[in-house]
Amino acid sequence: MMVSNNSTLLDRTIEVSEVLTRVGSKNEASAPLKSIKERDKLSHLVPAWEKSCTNTESTLHQLSPYIGKLKSSIAHDLILNYSPPRGLVADVFAGSGTVLLEAVRLGRRAFGVDSSPYAALLSRAKLSAPNTLDEALIRAKRRLEAAASRPSPDRRKIPSWVRNFFHPDTLGEVINFAKECQEQDDDFLLACMLGILHHQRPGFLSHPSSHLTPYLRDKKFPRDEFPQLYQYRALAPRLVAKVERTYKRKDFIVSSENHSFIEGATESISFPSGIDCLITSPPYMNALDYGRDNRLRLWFIDKAKAALIDNAQSQQRDGFQTLMAILARQAAINLVPNGYCIVIVGDQIKRGAKYPLSIAVQETFSTHAPELHLSQTIVNNIPDIRRARREHRGVRTENFLIFKKKNA
Ligand SMILES: C[S@@+](CC[C@H](N)C(=O)[O-])C[C@H]1O[C@@H](n2cnc3c(N)ncnc32)[C@H](O)[C@@H]1O
Repeated sequence: MMVSNNSTLLDRTIEVSEVLTRVGSKNEASAPLKSIKERDKLSHLVPAWEKSCTNTESTLHQLSPYIGKLKSSIAHDLILNYSPPRGLVADVFAGSGTVLLEAVRLGRRAFGVDSSPYAALLSRAKLSAPNTLDEALIRAKRRLEAAASRPSPDRRKIPSWVRNFFHPDTLGEVINFAKECQEQDDDFLLACMLGILHHQRPGFLSHPSSHLTPYLRDKKFPRDEFPQLYQYRALAPRLVAKVERTYKRKDFIVSSENHSFIEGATESISFPSGIDCLITSPPYMNALDYGRDNRLRLWFIDKAKAALIDNAQSQQRDGFQTLMAILARQAAINLVPNGYCIVIVGDQIKRGAKYPLSIAVQETFSTHAPELHLSQTIVNNIPDIRRARREHRGVRTENFLIFKKKNA
């Protein structure tokens, strides 16, 4: 495919769209496909991305919910097709660590960054999970015993919005267990506890509330009609059951030498050199509120930082483009020749009009990283069931922009 020198980026995008693979779109059968090597790597796999992988993925991916999480089956396919065995895979907006975990599962090395303490905790927890269920259970028992011997927390220091979610005795156990895990640097068990923090099912710790984001469901389940949903919920049996669920499909061992993670802002971090494949989904401007939607979990991790997250610069349009420029530059410098940088961005729908974030990213990459060329774009319609909030009309499609570093 030739690209004329004076073509605009939009022209180039249209030319690239000749190799666009439309997943789940009505045009699927009629989309023009040309013989491009890169496209062939994935074209037979992408229809499967529509299917749920909940019953097949490693259960470690289900440690605790995270908004805007990438499907592990997609991460799996991208890593297998765009990185060599033992290669270095990076995700610099790592969120819950989906790419990182899948990378180490597939025998790659992983490097991750995220500024949210909750994301950092989840990523570290997945990468440092005890090797066997027995080990995890022994550790859980020890932490539970140590937490039980701590004095009850001072209720006057707990804000009422947090108290509203729990029976007082449950809350005391949860606070002490969180403290114990933090003092022992036990990310894995703290993440297990956060994974059962709020929901109305019996295996969870809160009063009836939603699971992904913390909203009390006391109108749907009034206390006088559903008194059992407001009773004391003991932490120990629920935590043990959660650990057992987490090991249902954990069929691999992770060596601590194969990964590193930095909690911090991507724009202030130097990426390691020799990256074979960078796969990342940056925060879509204002589409998701990582602070607000994780506020209850964040309160148990880092009360001070929780309030700052949604004010971060990446939520603003200028800030987003600056962030993409830094990403482009760092990828160009640190990818190996012929390495890939895969950026996953949603196109926002504002008042019925589509704001093509994917075009903005392509423009930024072409300005700041001419060493990278766009080798393929995949557009994936996000089914309603996968969107964080179904009523949220903001993001309906995700674009996989696959840049390849030129060979010197
Ligand atoms: C779309 S999510 C990534 C989800 C991830 N792929 C997963 O599977 O869980 C974007 C992430 O970017 C993080 N983030 C936002 N601004 C950031 C910044 N300036 N530096 C580092 N991380 C940032 C957010 O905390 C969020 O976890």
